Amino acid sequence: MDGNPVGNVLVIDVLRATSTIVTAIYNGCRAVVPVTSVKDAQETGQRFDRKDVLLCGERGGRKIAGFDLGNSPLEYTRERIEDKVLVFTTTNGTRALKLCDHAEVVWITSLLNLSAVKAEVLQTSGGVTIVCAGQEGKESFEDSMCAGLLVHALQKCQTFQLSENACKVQKMAQAAGGSLFAASSHAAHLETIGFGADLEYCARIDEYEIVPVYKNGIITH
Ligand code: MLT
Repeated sequence: MDGNPVGNVLVIDVLRATSTIVTAIYNGCRAVVPVTSVKDAQETGQRFDRKDVLLCGERGGRKIAGFDLGNSPLEYTRERIEDKVLVFTTTNGTRALKLCDHAEVVWITSLLNLSAVKAEVLQTSGGVTIVCAGQEGKESFEDSMCAGLLVHALQKCQTFQLSENACKVQKMAQAAGGSLFAASSHAAHLETIGFGADLEYCARIDEYEIVPVYKNGIITH
């Protein structure tokens, strides 16, 4: 991809930013405001009444000191987040989202809402760019798998002209089988630091029929 994406864009960070955002939106938060740094999160949080806002996110997979919530989707229960604005910063996921600030529309994509995203894409004219957040600038197996599963499902409904990378992930998803996270170093890291339950949760396909949208700096439904 040359430059930052424009047009219709999907952002994927299966472990765990987009899975967490989908869960948070489903459970009734008012909006998610993605930001890139801890300082940005603190400053953005101050623009809201303290009772309306939660500071959320991770570094190294763990909750940031002084923040209200980390990046485990299992923390984002309705009781905890309903009607709140979530200011959210993660290592790779929110960075990938901010790269899409000039896109026409950005759909938040995870395995949890894969078919809902597919339906959205099929209703839209024009091309779609898939952005996989990956891990520190490198591809991550689970994001490529999610992209591949989506491309494969889309191709069954309509013929899209695929880029080289889209072909690659589609073939990869068809060939993989077995555990989604078997070859994921980030999954192994999350397991080691006590977030094994998140892996089972983030691997669920089509748990929710919603597609959160990132536009003008905020994510809503
Ligand atoms: C990220 O944005 O890098 C991830 O969501 C990290 C994590 O699993 O917490």
